[in-house]
Amino acid sequence: MPEEELSPTTRILRTRCEIEGADPVVTPLFQTSAFEASSPHFYTRKENPNGLEIEEVIAGLERSTHCLSVTTGMTALLVVLGLVPTGGTLVINTLIYGCTYRLCFREAKKRNLKLVVLDLSAGNESLSKIPEDAHMILFETPTNPFLRTINISSLARWRDKHAPGMLMVVDNTWATPLFQRPLECGADVSLYSATKFFGGHSDVMGGFITTDRDDLHEEMSAERFYGGMILAPHSAWLIRRSMQTFSLRMREHERVTTEMHEFLESLSCIQSVYAPEIDGTQLTGYGCILFIEIGDELGQRYQLFRDALTLFSSGTGMACVTSMVAQPCTGSHASLTEDEKAAMGIGKGLIRLCFGFEDPNDLKRDLTNAFRVLQS
Ligand SMILES: Cc1ncc(COP(=O)(O)O)c(C=O)c1O
Repeated sequence: MPEEELSPTTRILRTRCEIEGADPVVTPLFQTSAFEASSPHFYTRKENPNGLEIEEVIAGLERSTHCLSVTTGMTALLVVLGLVPTGGTLVINTLIYGCTYRLCFREAKKRNLKLVVLDLSAGNESLSKIPEDAHMILFETPTNPFLRTINISSLARWRDKHAPGMLMVVDNTWATPLFQRPLECGADVSLYSATKFFGGHSDVMGGFITTDRDDLHEEMSAERFYGGMILAPHSAWLIRRSMQTFSLRMREHERVTTEMHEFLESLSCIQSVYAPEIDGTQLTGYGCILFIEIGDELGQRYQLFRDALTLFSSGTGMACVTSMVAQPCTGSHASLTEDEKAAMGIGKGLIRLCFGFEDPNDLKRDLTNAFRVLQS
């Protein structure tokens, strides 16, 4: 219909700016749920150009065939856990993010899974305890907390020989694909909370699932579509923008953390500093998150320490451009019972420090003062 014959209401609704030839230098935000029937995208719950672009970026880093973007890291875990059949066996590592631990127990209860919790960082000793009929093994390396490393290649070799049907899933959030690529070591799935290093600014949530296996990707894509779990276009766009500085940020995290690690080792009030072993083969670098143990007595006074810090924010989260402090027993692992925390070795004296990009000398001064307040 000629435009001038339309009522004002219809004109407002139907006016669209011709954008062909605009040639923006970055991909604009496709803030739309629907596409015309002629579009290959169908519907944003299935796919969206912003999601496709960030998936390609992450798959490129991981060197994986496939990548799926989802709403959060927990969604990534939920979708992956859906690959375990009802009544199947799921193995998880003892040291794991508190919400992941709780999610596995919830899923096990709902779907009648046999859940086996093992210390996979114990090397060969732990391998013999893995049930050979297990359907999935899920772990983080480095672990949360204590940053212990699990050898993915030797686990994959054991799997190939003893349990070829067992899917190996690595939550690679803390190492990132810049420093560790689980699929190349034999894992079937490598997943991420993009809320951490990929987003990097504590202003967006997201998750990614990478795999080389077509069958797993197809099944998880269907789960994402029918479950409505796709990453929203705006979040995809924000994460894509953050990824422009990802390598720079990771190198800076590494530089600041190395310096802060040395400093923490020199403080007499700290009983242990926990950092991952960088073997140069599986894990080729690391930055940001360290744990320290100050003992239960000082740990009771954690709030004093936290409040005395002026350069560390205490909110939930990490892997951000600014530094953060947290107490796992009241934060990341708060959903665990006291017995479960004790089994993981998480007491009041365990503190997590995440280093951003402030000048390390300022961070040292801030920590020195907070330790003085803690001990006074
Ligand atoms: C290792 C790890 N995996 C998964 C998650 C969950 O991610 P999200 O908060 O994006 O749901 C977290 C959150 O802290 C995490 O640390």
